[in-house]
Amino acid sequence: MIVTVAAFKGGVGKSTTALHLATYLQTKADTLLVDGDLNRSALDWSNRGSLPFKVADEEEAISLAKLYEHIVIDTPSRPKTDELKKLARGCDFLVIPTTPDAIALAATLKMVNELQGVRVNYRILLTLVPPYPNKAGEEARETLESAGLPIFKTAIRRLTVFQHAALEGVPVNGVKDAYAQIAWRGYVEVGKEMLS
Ligand SMILES: Nc1ncnc2c1ncn2[C@@H]1O[C@H](COP(=O)(O)OP(=O)(O)OP(=O)(O)O)[C@@H](O)[C@H]1O
Ligand SMILES: [Mg+2]
Repeated sequence: MIVTVAAFKGGVGKSTTALHLATYLQTKADTLLVDGDLNRSALDWSNRGSLPFKVADEEEAISLAKLYEHIVIDTPSRPKTDELKKLARGCDFLVIPTTPDAIALAATLKMVNELQGVRVNYRILLTLVPPYPNKAGEEARETLESAGLPIFKTAIRRLTVFQHAALEGVPVNGVKDAYAQIAWRGYVEVGKEMLS
């Protein structure tokens, strides 16, 4: 299965999502994370610590891909329309992370619009959702659902353990923190939805 993670807006959790979905898929079969971002965030992450799956840049990935059952592709922000269409056509599943704020939601709607006419299986993932009593997550879900868009039932909460994980170079389930398991469960549920 080839899973691509893409969004128009920067900082919405693309790399964090790609990395944790790769962690989840690796529990099922050998998984390769392709760092398609020039900022090389996933590769940096793996160089700082250790990740339970293989990470490669786009060039290395060409020869490695056939050795892996699952491939997750992290992409840079703001893909041009033709790049986006190429990404979408080249995968089995497109995950579009978005934060629940108006700017990110507008960028997500624009992206979905540009995908019209492209045969792609995609779903929107709400990420960095602020805690109760903030209602941004629920409101964003209502906005997306009322637009008839496919969205993961599970949302990823905004938890600082994700930043600690990035610093330590491990997935959240490898961090000693009271919130580590809550954070990890979010991506496990998303992974299950994706495979179901
Ligand atoms: N659920 C979360 N809770 C808290 N912090 C998060 C969460 N997800 C991501 N972050 C943090 O938010 C920042 C942006 O996340 P990330 O790098 O995954 O986004 P991105 O979309 O890949 O960004 P870019 O556009 O720069 O590639 C990082 O510092 C990351 O650690
Ligand atoms: Mg990134």
